Amino acid sequence: MSRIYLAPMEGLADALLRDLITRTGGYDGAVCQFVRVSGTSLPSRTFRRVCPELEHGSRTPSGTPVSVQLLGSNPELMGETAARLARLSPCGIDLNFGCPATTVNRHGGGAMLLDDPGLLQRIAEAVRRAVPVAIPVTAKMRLGICDTARTLDCAAALQAGGVAALVVHARTKDEGYRPPAHWEWIARVREAVSIPVIANGEIWSLADYVRCREVSGCADVMIGRGAVADPFLTRRIRTGDDGDLMKDWAQLSPLLQEFWQRVQLCVMARHAPGRLKLWLSLLQRGYPQAAALYERIRACNDIGAVSSALAAATVLE
Ligand SMILES: Cc1cc2nc3c(=O)[nH]c(=O)nc-3n(C[C@H](O)[C@H](O)[C@H](O)COP(=O)(O)O)c2cc1C
Repeated sequence: MSRIYLAPMEGLADALLRDLITRTGGYDGAVCQFVRVSGTSLPSRTFRRVCPELEHGSRTPSGTPVSVQLLGSNPELMGETAARLARLSPCGIDLNFGCPATTVNRHGGGAMLLDDPGLLQRIAEAVRRAVPVAIPVTAKMRLGICDTARTLDCAAALQAGGVAALVVHARTKDEGYRPPAHWEWIARVREAVSIPVIANGEIWSLADYVRCREVSGCADVMIGRGAVADPFLTRRIRTGDDGDLMKDWAQLSPLLQEFWQRVQLCVMARHAPGRLKLWLSLLQRGYPQAAALYERIRACNDIGAVSSALAAATVLE
């Protein structure tokens, strides 16, 4: 049976959304957004803020295991940080070699490291050495910075560094999030290493899932934006039945309403509408009702008006 993981998404999939998405079932694991490791040693509260699931056995409320992701370029500091994080018993520690953000890359973190397989290996080794064997250390990489010249070297270096599995987001840093994802390159990585390779990039539907597995030859996948755009995607995948998104709005409605209530408790009032709009902007890909609601509240930042529009658009139980 294929394993399906929920991808880390800084600024999009926080603990609240991870809770709602994994609650719909079908996820074997999730990775939380990255914790930046640069310079100073991080207190436990930083890990707990990024990954509140650490307080609950490193699992979402529905029981999905959550790994914590570290992003940094200094092997020694990464090792020390991982050792401190390990004391909080995360289900896993993941290493980020894919972030394309300029602020992160300027400090030599994320995807910029894909130019230096030796450094990738040293980081993986330092982290692996620093944490108990019971905690899996995994890595997530893009294909390269601007081309695929070193893709296989990077994958081999991470394997040599001791990572237990490798997620490959099948694009270079320069390709950002532009389709297509080069699933055929995941196949090349899979053939070059002996550790499990997890395919990632552009899985939005059951058909994408099937094609991605066919082309990459990977059993397991990680889904990012597609999981936010369609919280019932794993059900479609697990049952092999696309169902009817129009009808699924009735099941999505209570999730949206809960999201709206809880997001107002987590963020300042002026930021709450933006968070709802962010989710709706992805939901509108498949749900016409979400598109209509998004259009209605797009220019609105008033909590009361957003609440009324949401109540009118969603199906009350
Ligand atoms: C808003 C956003 C934030 C992201 N943050 C992270 C992150 O913190 N760590 C990481 O490894 N990848 C991050 N990614 C990349 C995703 O995990 C994933 O690799 C990428 O979106 C491709 O998968 P998808 O096409 O299924 O979305 C982020 C992507 C998005 C869209």
